[in-house]
Amino acid sequence: MATNNNEKLPKIGMLYLDHVLRFFDKSNFRGWPDKIETVIYHWKNDKERFIREVKRKKIDILIGNIPATAYETFREIARALPEVEFIPSMDTQFSNKSKENVTRFAWKYDIPIPKTYVFYDKKKAEKFIAETEFPKIIKKSYGPSNYGGYFVHKVDSKQEAHNLLAQKKYHPAYFQDFVPMSADVRVMLIGHKPVCAFWRRPPEGEWLTNTSQGGSMDYMDVPKELLDLAVQVSKAANAEYWACDIAVGEDGQYRILECATAFAAFPYIRDWIGQYLMWKFSNGRFAKPNIPLYNWEELGKMDASVLRTLRYITFGKYTPSYDGAYFLDKKVRQTEEGQFYLHELDKMYPILTTIDRTTEEWASEKWNFQDNYGKSIRKVHVKSNPPKEAVQEVIAEDKTEEMLEQTETITNNKKQKPLLSKKKMRKILTSVEGISKKKSKKILKKFSLLDLEETLDNSPKTLVDELPWFKKKMLKQLKSIWDDFKEKLEKKD
Ligand SMILES: Nc1ncnc2c1ncn2[C@@H]1O[C@H](COP(=O)(O)OP(=O)(O)O)[C@@H](O)[C@H]1O
Ligand SMILES: [Mg+2]
Repeated sequence: MATNNNEKLPKIGMLYLDHVLRFFDKSNFRGWPDKIETVIYHWKNDKERFIREVKRKKIDILIGNIPATAYETFREIARALPEVEFIPSMDTQFSNKSKENVTRFAWKYDIPIPKTYVFYDKKKAEKFIAETEFPKIIKKSYGPSNYGGYFVHKVDSKQEAHNLLAQKKYHPAYFQDFVPMSADVRVMLIGHKPVCAFWRRPPEGEWLTNTSQGGSMDYMDVPKELLDLAVQVSKAANAEYWACDIAVGEDGQYRILECATAFAAFPYIRDWIGQYLMWKFSNGRFAKPNIPLYNWEELGKMDASVLRTLRYITFGKYTPSYDGAYFLDKKVRQTEEGQFYLHELDKMYPILTTIDRTTEEWASEKWNFQDNYGKSIRKVHVKSNPPKEAVQEVIAEDKTEEMLEQTETITNNKKQKPLLSKKKMRKILTSVEGISKKKSKKILKKFSLLDLEETLDNSPKTLVDELPWFKKKMLKQLKSIWDDFKEKLEKKD
């Protein structure tokens, strides 16, 4: 592949939200030569300021997962920033918002799911209950905390269904046929290639496959045909990275239960995603990661505590004579189409680029049923937003979540508060030669406290760019005062 070493790289920004677990951080983009910006959404009326900050920082690509409660706001933000590429795109993240959205996505692309019924009209829901057969599953479609199975109920009769909805007031009423299943499989993909997969089995006599209820997980022998379904779904979503939960029914059928770009993943998987994205953005300057199919069967033999700390795993390319590739060479796989060597199978799952689109597939005017048709219920709107606790990664439930809880890089869910009061910040500012009280006020008018602290930490030059009167000399002095202050603070901790 031709390399374009002189070509200018796009400017990358990390998209974070207060109270939300961070899926990526800069360390996942190891080797990216340019500064990576950070933009933090603070909820509550922060839309305009957020847009201004992205423009000011001249960001070309904003990377990050949007939690359900901010999804509609970010569709608006993305519209206001047509030059900025969101990764994953808002269309790709459509399924992150709600179970209803997953269902609509699956309906559009003919993706097998348990038969699903969605009602915004209470009367229609009651009529459905009166006429349908049981057991059924009832789920809460939308909510900031989707803990595995907590809002998923099995109802065995009309009366139970009626009582449950009367009590829980789920809106919309979301029903599924109950699918007897032996297990489900979580598959993670990068560039439409499966990079990790594991079984989750329910405890004896239970129907929920969530391992937090005492079920088990293992990495062995995930069928090729199940991986094929995951690839199909990832392609339909045009997803740079993706996870699906696929139910394996007692009838032998595969059905999608959940899919999203937000999921719990070991740090080395997030490194791979970073590498993949650097490859995508750099026009071949960075190498495409080589991630052998079924690598998880080998890595999965390690203890979770080891997997949690491993970083930057790389594999050699397969060559028949190359010892390092032994695990690709040594096994044969049984599939419905016959036997394959692992390296043959590996070739059937190339890492692919996603398609850059400029049109909106899931425009809110049409697809935001919740706000368009759900007017009778409480609207979860930007202004009422800030969630009390950290918003969970959408399908980050059970063991996976437990495993990741101790992962340093993503547990950055502390509430972002400024370190200083306005008064103290003004004192620092005015201690710089040439910054008067009036000028310090001007600075704090342009930047919020939090913004200013972040700017001083990461991109102090912004002050010179943004304020015509701000001299380089002032910056030097201010930066040194700020660094001293931070150093003292760290010593105190
Ligand atoms: N239609 C269904 N039939 C049978 N079991 C289901 C069905 N839908 C979900 N489940 C079980 O409930 C679990 C949780 O459902 P899921 O849709 O994944 O919601 P959550 O967001 O709570 O993880 C699944 O892992 C599966 O074990
Ligand atoms: Mg689930």
